[in-house]
Amino acid sequence: MLFPRSFNPTIRSFIKPPSCILLLVLFCCTCFTTTEAYDPLDPNGNITIKWDIISWTADGYVAVVTMNNFQQYRHISSPGWLLGWTWAKKEVIWSMVGGQTTEQGDCSKYKGNIPHCCKKDPIVVDLLPGTPYNQQIANCCKGGVLSSWAQDQSKAVSAFQVSVGSAGTTNRTVKLPKNFTLKAPGPGYTCGPAKIVRPTKFITSDKRRVTQALMTWNVTCTYSQFLAQRTPTCCVSLSSFYNSTVVPCPTCSCGCQGNSSLSGECIDPDSPHLQSVVSNPVPGKNSITPLVRCTRHMCPIRVHWHVKLNYKEYWRVKVTVTNFNYRMNYSDWNLVIQHPNFDNLTQLFSFNYQSINPYGPINDTAMLWGVKFYNDFLMQAGPLGNVQSELLFKKDKTTFTFDKGWAFPRRVYFNGDVCVMPQPDAYPWLPNTGSKQEVSLLALVMTSLLALVLLYAYV
Ligand SMILES: *[C@@H]1O[C@H](CO)[C@@H](O)[C@H](O)[C@H]1NC(C)=O
Ligand SMILES: *[C@@H]1O[C@H](CO)[C@@H](O)[C@H](O)[C@H]1NC(C)=O
Ligand SMILES: *[C@@H]1O[C@H](CO)[C@@H](O)[C@H](O)[C@H]1NC(C)=O
Ligand SMILES: *[C@@H]1O[C@H](CO)[C@@H](O)[C@H](O)[C@H]1NC(C)=O
Ligand SMILES: *[C@@H]1O[C@H](CO)[C@@H](O)[C@H](O)[C@H]1NC(C)=O
Ligand SMILES: *[C@@H]1O[C@H](CO)[C@@H](O)[C@H](O)[C@H]1NC(C)=O
Ligand SMILES: *[C@@H]1O[C@H](CO)[C@@H](O)[C@H](O)[C@H]1NC(C)=O
Ligand SMILES: *[C@@H]1O[C@H](CO)[C@@H](O)[C@H](O)[C@H]1NC(C)=O
Ligand SMILES: *[C@@H]1O[C@H](CO)[C@@H](O)[C@H](O)[C@H]1NC(C)=O
Repeated sequence: MLFPRSFNPTIRSFIKPPSCILLLVLFCCTCFTTTEAYDPLDPNGNITIKWDIISWTADGYVAVVTMNNFQQYRHISSPGWLLGWTWAKKEVIWSMVGGQTTEQGDCSKYKGNIPHCCKKDPIVVDLLPGTPYNQQIANCCKGGVLSSWAQDQSKAVSAFQVSVGSAGTTNRTVKLPKNFTLKAPGPGYTCGPAKIVRPTKFITSDKRRVTQALMTWNVTCTYSQFLAQRTPTCCVSLSSFYNSTVVPCPTCSCGCQGNSSLSGECIDPDSPHLQSVVSNPVPGKNSITPLVRCTRHMCPIRVHWHVKLNYKEYWRVKVTVTNFNYRMNYSDWNLVIQHPNFDNLTQLFSFNYQSINPYGPINDTAMLWGVKFYNDFLMQAGPLGNVQSELLFKKDKTTFTFDKGWAFPRRVYFNGDVCVMPQPDAYPWLPNTGSKQEVSLLALVMTSLLALVLLYAYV
């Protein structure tokens, strides 16, 4: 996964052992083409978990735990987050508001007052919407769903209150919990250690008084698609008005049909068992394991980019997102698309739009998502399982061309995960361009690497 498949061995053969500089250079050349921990389109994205101690009790403290999703386009959808940690000493949770632990654990040594949870490593989940008001706190009870920062900042926060016993009762005796884990609900997030930060200040609703936490610590969690799953979940297909070829998703983008070690099951839409398989999930497999329609790409999601029309001043694209997963309705789905013409997007039909500029002035990346109550809900596989929109771009005469696949996106993400693109040399091309692009991308990369190798060999 670290190197694009075909050019890994060739690079290796260039590396001479003591040449650290060279390794560094090679690494930097490849890090923009792969998909590990660092996300080039959202380099500062993270989820921050903040613990504010709001009062000391006889044997511990009461804390409000707040999770903020600072990621531009990655949200946590149903069935929601699971937050875990390990207590540093013999702490117990006496009670919780706006959240609960998944297991109580062994509280047998307590008489009379029984704690909410006695586990050394509790796991907390959010409560569901509709929880009685006396068991709620602000920002709780959304079933663990967190919006992304760009989509809706007011919903990118979640909170619960916890009353901890057998803990320290001053800011010097409290021990910070360790080993935070965040599941969303599958793997993908890594959390750093808790760090004591300046106590949070709270402003009262009439804005006439400021109070502050007795003690505050923060934990930062970051996402890596590499950790989340080894197989992609989405692929891209392309077509255009100027060439009748439809370039499909690459075969086996997300798995191969009939190969259980790579992909698992898929189902034929004409199968008479469809209904029973969909409504009776296999015991042991949870609902986040996709059950996809059998296709050559085997992806739960396909994004199709069709170059539809060419006007004098403008050009028009139709984007269709299709759900092939029978087990998932994607609520609040989002797309991130990189294309140089997004700096001149003129009109957009039936999707919301927000420009993402991780690198300041370069304005070539857009986040698109559905319109509330209209197409923000991408229905499970079937006749209704798609959403679509049209984009109108203004041509910039200096850069615009239909040649060499320029009109197609450079990078596409669905719900924060990178989609598999067709090979650049397979893109539909203009009928009259005569010969094909002579230099393939691979050759280009190889040439520049070779040049660098030679350069450093003589330094
Ligand atoms: C987390 O994200 C916020 C907002 O992007 C950023 O200000 C902060 O520095 C990030 N924290 C870490 C530890 O990266
Ligand atoms: C701690 O987290 C909060 C968000 O929950 C953030 O506003 C604050 O800047 C963070 N503090 C530090 C020092 O990272
Ligand atoms: C604990 O509180 C004292 C004063 O109340 C303060 O000076 C100190 O910095 C605090 N320590 C921590 C770890 O918050
Ligand atoms: C925290 O995790 C690390 C690595 O997984 C492990 O070595 C350590 O024992 C854990 N600490 C606790 C208190 O569970
Ligand atoms: C499944 O894929 C693996 C790895 O590519 C291959 O070795 C194996 O023969 C395949 N099995 C079937 C049934 O196609
Ligand atoms: C998706 O939503 C539809 C309509 O609300 C519902 O009938 C269906 O059961 C849902 N499917 C899944 C997999 O949740
Ligand atoms: C990026 O382009 C969009 C569409 O033309 C525009 O609305 C937005 O203001 C631009 N943002 C920046 C930072 O240039
Ligand atoms: C396209 O956007 C860029 C950057 O915002 C701007 O400099 C340029 O003039 C725009 N081109 C057209 C044709 O509007
Ligand atoms: C359309 O593009 C394909 C490459 O995807 C190419 O093989 C084909 O010749 C093109 N069609 C025409 C009419 O040029």
